[in-house]
Amino acid sequence: MNITLNKKLKPFAVEQMRYKVAYGGRGSSKSWTIARILLLMAMAKPLRVLCTREIQDSIKDSVHKLLKDQIDLLELQGFTVQNDVIKHSNGSEFLFKGLYSNLSKIKSFEGVDICWIEEAESISTASWEILDPTIRKTGSEIWISFNPRYEDDIIYKTFVVEPPANALVIKVNWQDNKHFPKELQDQKDHMARTDPDLYLHIWEGELKKNTAEQIFHSKWVIEDFTTNPRIEHYYFGADWGFSQDPNTVNRCHIGEHKDWGPNCLFIEYEANDRPYNEDNRLTSNDLDDLPEFWDTVPEIREYEVQADCARPETISFMNGKGFNVVGGAKWPGSVEDGIEHIRAYDKVIIHPRCVNTVWEFKNYKYKVDKKTGQITNKIIDKYNHHIDAIRYAIGPMIQGKVVDYGKIV
Ligand SMILES: Nc1ncnc2c1ncn2[C@@H]1O[C@H](COP(=O)(O)OP(=O)(O)OP(=O)(O)O)[C@@H](O)[C@H]1O
Ligand SMILES: [Mg+2]
Repeated sequence: MNITLNKKLKPFAVEQMRYKVAYGGRGSSKSWTIARILLLMAMAKPLRVLCTREIQDSIKDSVHKLLKDQIDLLELQGFTVQNDVIKHSNGSEFLFKGLYSNLSKIKSFEGVDICWIEEAESISTASWEILDPTIRKTGSEIWISFNPRYEDDIIYKTFVVEPPANALVIKVNWQDNKHFPKELQDQKDHMARTDPDLYLHIWEGELKKNTAEQIFHSKWVIEDFTTNPRIEHYYFGADWGFSQDPNTVNRCHIGEHKDWGPNCLFIEYEANDRPYNEDNRLTSNDLDDLPEFWDTVPEIREYEVQADCARPETISFMNGKGFNVVGGAKWPGSVEDGIEHIRAYDKVIIHPRCVNTVWEFKNYKYKVDKKTGQITNKIIDKYNHHIDAIRYAIGPMIQGKVVDYGKIV
């Protein structure tokens, strides 16, 4: 039997580390991979494994069934599955205990080699503070799997916000699971269409967020769409980077969507030279790199690109490289007018490949008054580089001009 494991989590099996943490969205194979690695390790040598979680009212709440199913599925030899313990003929054993109702007894688990905390987002600070020093056998490890919830959850704070040096922390999502099942794919796609905020939390492993201050709240969805080949106008917009800000480009079009209505804004492509959430940021916004990076957006050379007019020298540089860039208009209140215009579409439909644009739609916000908690009408000047590019792209329409511009003949 060929036993497959999620590649990204293989360090769990081969590295020695006090803490091993796998976190991310639903269906990323955290539970299956950890269960498989632990079973294989327990077959190789005697191992005492404590499988724990915050609340375990009955064994049904635990990973007991998951381990049993994996033993059956992989036809692993030597295991005996009892009601509340799984043993191997070499002396290995898996124990299952909830922390909440057993805190006083947890101290008797000093002898465990590996403690696996499943669904660790719900672990209370009190539980963590007792469990961590209890797992004290030489070489013992604490394995943690969880779906992020709130920034101040103890496990998130301890391992994601400020991870200690002796922790292996790996983010995994459904994209990393080669065996992501069709049923979950359907659920995921449905949620991306109907509730993108919840989608990002549940499926992409992002924190739960308050959405009321989001400027485009409930206006946008993530959906894989195929461009209608008869679309005559693509709208291209670009924003120039400076210092920490990225250079951005987007390609959009306007059209009908069968569910959302006749007047939707489709955002189909993006390019960004300093992606959010990634370590491989460019260290400078090098002008010489711009043409190549713009060319990652299909057909950009065939249309006018509306760009930020504040950098005429960059516009001429790009025109010298064979693009057709024009400076988009700005006027007092153009940002607010742009928001109003975008909110007037039936829906903004963002292609899933535009991950940085999605990030901005989610994080572009109004200021919240710290004293009253009220949402103000002041726009926070952050996470708006793709949004600016899109605003430039459709700028003439925001001004109420004829929409028929763009294609170079
Ligand atoms: N190695 C594998 N071989 C075959 N299928 C797998 C494998 N790993 C995961 N899967 C499939 O992917 C599904 C999701 O995996 P799993 O339940 O481990 O994800 P998870 O990250 O723990 O999800 P959740 O966040 O919902 O707990 C499994 O139900 C199974 O169908
Ligand atoms: Mg799981």
